[in-house]
Amino acid sequence: MAKTSDNQQTTITRDRYQRISPIYDWMEILPERKYISWRERLWSLVRGPEVLEVGVGTGKNLAFYPEGVRVTGVDLTPGMLERARNRVAMLNRDITLLLGDARNLEFPNSYFDSVVATYVFCSVSDPVQGLKELGRVVNPAGRIFLLEHVRSAKPIVGKIMDILNPAMVRVTGANINRRTVENVRLSGLLIEHVEDLGVGDIYKLIIARRED
Ligand SMILES: C[S@@+](CC[C@H](N)C(=O)[O-])C[C@H]1O[C@@H](n2cnc3c(N)ncnc32)[C@H](O)[C@@H]1O
Repeated sequence: MAKTSDNQQTTITRDRYQRISPIYDWMEILPERKYISWRERLWSLVRGPEVLEVGVGTGKNLAFYPEGVRVTGVDLTPGMLERARNRVAMLNRDITLLLGDARNLEFPNSYFDSVVATYVFCSVSDPVQGLKELGRVVNPAGRIFLLEHVRSAKPIVGKIMDILNPAMVRVTGANINRRTVENVRLSGLLIEHVEDLGVGDIYKLIIARRED
């Protein structure tokens, strides 16, 4: 169950993404040059038939969805989702887009074969609760795939990220000092694979599954 303070924070996060949604793709042009190959790699590992993408945003992953899977994309922010809808309209694919909150997903237990989130758990107000929800809706044989930037474990870099974080959150909606690998563990998921993708130890591919 989501807590009141987290609900307030979620409203703030939604307002921030709503504000930047018209320019989000432009803001991401430079980092996206790196992200593209990481997105491609992640999606090459995803298995269906039922796939959930949490925090689908403006739909930047759509181009990488494997053939033959049914994808449901959920996002908190109407403005982001509207842009994803425009992208879907150009494709002839089985994709459903819904407004929703990672902390409280409206799907039955064990429904999905794969659950994906890219650059989302830096923004979810209660990341451990959100990750628990991913564990609830993925089936026991399924996998959770995350692409995330996290707080560096290098003391000086980590400290700088802590100092810059309040300004970054206000401008972009994303925390740059989240300890997402630890949060995955705290949510009770079993981590199968963590990989440093580049930019020191900041960008990670994380693959996890349920314990049962
Ligand atoms: C940095 S953007 C990433 C978008 C997309 N996944 C990508 O790779 O470009 C973060 C997205 O997470 C969404 N988000 C933040 N909190 C959320 C929550 N609690 N539930 C669902 N989506 C959330 C935001 O609305 C935003 O679209």
